[in-house]
Amino acid sequence: MKILVAGGAGYIGSHVIVELYKKGHKAVCVDNLYNSKIKAVKNIEKLIGEKLPFYKIDCCDKKKLETAFKKEKFDAVMMFQGYKAVGESVTKPVAYYRNNIDSALTIIELMDKYNVHNVMFSSSATVYGKNAKSPITEKDKALILNDITNPYGETKAMIEKILTDKAHADKRFNVVLLRYFNPVGAHDSGLLGEDPNGLPNNLMPYVAKVATGKLPYLKVYGNDYKTKDGTGVRDYIHVVDLALGHVAALKCYKKKKENVHIYNLGTGKGTSVLELVKAYEKASGKKVKYKIVARRAGDVDRLYCKPAKANKELGWYAKRDLYNMCLTSYNFENK
Ligand code: UFG
Repeated sequence: MKILVAGGAGYIGSHVIVELYKKGHKAVCVDNLYNSKIKAVKNIEKLIGEKLPFYKIDCCDKKKLETAFKKEKFDAVMMFQGYKAVGESVTKPVAYYRNNIDSALTIIELMDKYNVHNVMFSSSATVYGKNAKSPITEKDKALILNDITNPYGETKAMIEKILTDKAHADKRFNVVLLRYFNPVGAHDSGLLGEDPNGLPNNLMPYVAKVATGKLPYLKVYGNDYKTKDGTGVRDYIHVVDLALGHVAALKCYKKKKENVHIYNLGTGKGTSVLELVKAYEKASGKKVKYKIVARRAGDVDRLYCKPAKANKELGWYAKRDLYNMCLTSYNFENK
């Protein structure tokens, strides 16, 4: 298939493009490079061994994005574009709603105009809301939008709803919603990984900076949760496994019976902050200093999924373990 990958120079999109090429698909990368670098495109090219069609375009810019739709004939679109920092979304809600919803609507309108009907959306476990009980299945759902604790998460839920409504109104549309748990790690080559601008918000990129001596210590947000060691438990998934989940989900486009497909992408295993720190020390051979501090607002004690539906229907399993997630993260950070 020939796939428009919106946000293809970013952390997850870049890994997905590499796995698409490995399976014989072609991608066209569209990215405004707001939160990514052109170097990622060059590194993808090194890994796929050919030139990657690339458009430096903001997906909210309909006129420019239309040039890509006009020139290329897409079989499907994968949507990774959008702002993604949970904390920032609380302080800049309007920017998050404008950018994330506007870019999604623009893409959907152009898909309509150019008869592209297959779409995959990079969603998040955050759509289950703060009251969901782990292990979470696809049947769980946030009862009200306010169950979702931040505007970033609300844009994910809203875009899921927009795509679902479109699919119900237009049976030619085939929508795949992939709800990620906590993507971490990097490509084995060390060429692709998570490279956030400024201080990392998420645990593993922060640990990576501590292990490599760029930051003095990790703040562990609370050790009084009802978990095995009191620290928060999450379902960390290797970004390459996550990317392979997207490739596996392409088979949904062949199914004619239903046209909205929802899958959790996670390992189903919960790991605490301190377990992750230990695993990182083992993989890197470096000490990760930490201090226990107060809880972070909005955090829940545990969040992990049941990936049984993706296992059964897509034949997809997350195979890479925590050690490998830490090792690839460390190697990328060191490069
Ligand atoms: N944590 C720390 N110190 C840090 C950063 C995180 O102790 O410096 C802890 C958190 O309290 C939490 C765990 O590490 O217990 C994981 O936190 P992350 O920030 O890495 O990830 P979250 O689970 O908070 O959020 C992630 C993504 C969101 C997504 C959400 C949905 O960042 O985009 O998962 O599951 F919405």
